[in-house]
Amino acid sequence: MKNNKNKEETREKQVVNPIQWFPGHMAKTRRLIAENLKQVDIVFELLDTRAVISSRNPEIKKITAGKPVLTLLNKSDLADVKINKKWLEYFKSAGEHALLVDCKNFSGINNIYSEIKNILSEKLERYKSKGMAGRRIRAMILGIPNVGKSSLLNKLCGASKAKVEDRPGVTLRKQWVSANFKDSANIGLDLLDTPGVLWPKFESEEVGLNLAFIGSIKDDILDSPENAAKLCGVLYKKYPAELSARFKLDFDIGQPHIQDYEIFEKIARNRGFIISGGEIDDERCAKTILTEFRGAKIGRISLEEPEYISEEF
Ligand code: G4P
Repeated sequence: MKNNKNKEETREKQVVNPIQWFPGHMAKTRRLIAENLKQVDIVFELLDTRAVISSRNPEIKKITAGKPVLTLLNKSDLADVKINKKWLEYFKSAGEHALLVDCKNFSGINNIYSEIKNILSEKLERYKSKGMAGRRIRAMILGIPNVGKSSLLNKLCGASKAKVEDRPGVTLRKQWVSANFKDSANIGLDLLDTPGVLWPKFESEEVGLNLAFIGSIKDDILDSPENAAKLCGVLYKKYPAELSARFKLDFDIGQPHIQDYEIFEKIARNRGFIISGGEIDDERCAKTILTEFRGAKIGRISLEEPEYISEEF
């Protein structure tokens, strides 16, 4: 009983603060990024397109301190195409630069160069007028854990670089790696080889859950039946047809009274996840739902839309 209580407490704490970030780590990361910012022309802010709000660092504007930022909406292959478009429109109307990318399949990556040219056009003109047209552009990548920072670095630079350290406050070494691409305007791109690992918003339970759903933080405790049932509830509200089709649910779509756990249990029974005594195998069912959601087997799903944005985004 006591063990269960401890597990519950850990779970609650982890949902809100999935990796252990402390004020000291945050201050150190801020300082390291500030030092490196002086040397870069542009920052690539990586977000997860399925949960754009939850995967954004709450202090990103302060952290980047006026440096040009290109927001890369990664894992766009897993997110809802219609909502992806809405996000692009949102960023455009907010006067921010954003692109949809997919670092797994190399989609949208080449657009990064034309967008850099667009964002840094004045600077590039100045270089040209000073006879420095070939000067290379320097960039750094920032984002929360698992958003695809190493994948982007590897895609841009070709070689397999070291996995990004997800330990909070980890030192950013100053080493530059060259991107393979050189476009017709002769813009070379160098990246800081160690991306900055940012912290997500901690305050809201909804943010913690969204990050757990998308597997942004890999953790067995977060892959609990409770969280998987909550995901069922979210999907039943947002994507009822996809959820019902994948798991052969026979609910009338849109019935407001269906409880999260009823859906979870129905999925378990439909898939035959039964243990002795007719009980359902909670753990197996949770794993299946979360894995199928994360692999876009249920469909391309976005948990957040621009309509939900609060002022501090
Ligand atoms: P990080 O450095 O920010 O921590 O993230 P990393 O690049 O390690 O990516 C985390 C996981 O997300 C990896 O999967 C990676 O393959 C996957 N990923 C990155 N970008 C994309 C994308 O645009 N689309 C999709 N579908 N997946 C993406 P993994 O399972 O941890 O490893 P593996 O699949 O590479 O073996």
